[in-house]
Amino acid sequence: MKVFIAGASGLLGGNCLKHFSEQGWDVKGSYFSYATDNTVYYNTLQPEDPNNFDIAAFAPDVIVHCGALTHVDYCEQHPEESYTQTVTSTINLIAVAKKCNAKMVYISTDYVFDGKNGPYTEEAPVNPISVYGRHKLEAEQMVLNEIPGALVLRITNVYGEEARGKNFIARIVQQCEEGKELTLKLPYDQFASPTNAWDIARAMFVLLRDGKSGIYHTGGTDFMNRVELALTVLKHFPGAKYQLIPLDTASLQQPAARPLIGGFVCMKFRKEYPEFLFSNVDDYLLARKK
Ligand SMILES: NC(=O)c1ccc[n+]([C@@H]2O[C@H](COP(=O)([O-])OP(=O)(O)OC[C@H]3O[C@@H](n4cnc5c(N)ncnc54)[C@H](OP(=O)(O)O)[C@@H]3O)[C@@H](O)[C@H]2O)c1
Repeated sequence: MKVFIAGASGLLGGNCLKHFSEQGWDVKGSYFSYATDNTVYYNTLQPEDPNNFDIAAFAPDVIVHCGALTHVDYCEQHPEESYTQTVTSTINLIAVAKKCNAKMVYISTDYVFDGKNGPYTEEAPVNPISVYGRHKLEAEQMVLNEIPGALVLRITNVYGEEARGKNFIARIVQQCEEGKELTLKLPYDQFASPTNAWDIARAMFVLLRDGKSGIYHTGGTDFMNRVELALTVLKHFPGAKYQLIPLDTASLQQPAARPLIGGFVCMKFRKEYPEFLFSNVDDYLLARKK
């Protein structure tokens, strides 16, 4: 299988690049502003950029779109930029996929739901409550409508190994390891399923290998709020100095509304892959110590 991954310098794309390569697939993954090992330059907003990796010449069977502007509060305050980074980039990659006759994988989110009654199945009615969520929904629908056999993988609360260590868990781990005192103001009313990017890469691999299409929800085996998530990490650092201030989401006054009871019921994936094991946050932190 030949796969091009847009956004392989990021958290999920980096794990996909590593896993697919280890499985023997012919994979190229791109960076935009932050070059990482084994990545090539590609700007999804300027498909004609002469510096772009030549996707057509590579002739992938699959294009995985892992690029997006993921800062939800920034998106709320910069809706045009959010549209460009999420929707226009997808329109551009759809055109490339059509040119190459490639299948597409679009990475979406539980922010397509309103969070009133999660966790959600694939059939649950969507109702995004933020700019980011609306743009992700528009992009996923576009991919499903335009690319035959396209796959949409909805994911949530991702952590794991990444070049920049910018995810929530990585930042807590880094500060604990550096012996810094942490001040954590966290909402106790936002729930989701923290998911290791490595598991999402493994799930995507089997779905692609088996030619699956349509929407799949994937998620780790934990279901917890942000306070519980932080405490789950902190218990692995018994000497950590921290001040944890649990708040409700309203008190945080975040620009973008959050789906409070988010996360997924991953029954569709579990039914088709009953022997696939997702890990959890404890598994990840224990493995890091070895
Ligand atoms: N992280 C989560 O918790 C989470 C949850 C739900 C859904 N998702 C979705 O999962 C996908 C991957 O997220 P992530 O956390 O892995 O994001 P990430 O770490 O921020 O990575 C984003 C990637 O997109 C690339 N990119 C940005 N602008 C680009 C452009 N104009 N052209 C080409 N590439 C560009 C970045 O490249 P450079 O860094 O080199 O500039 C980076 O490789 C996104 O679609 C996101 O919406 C993430």
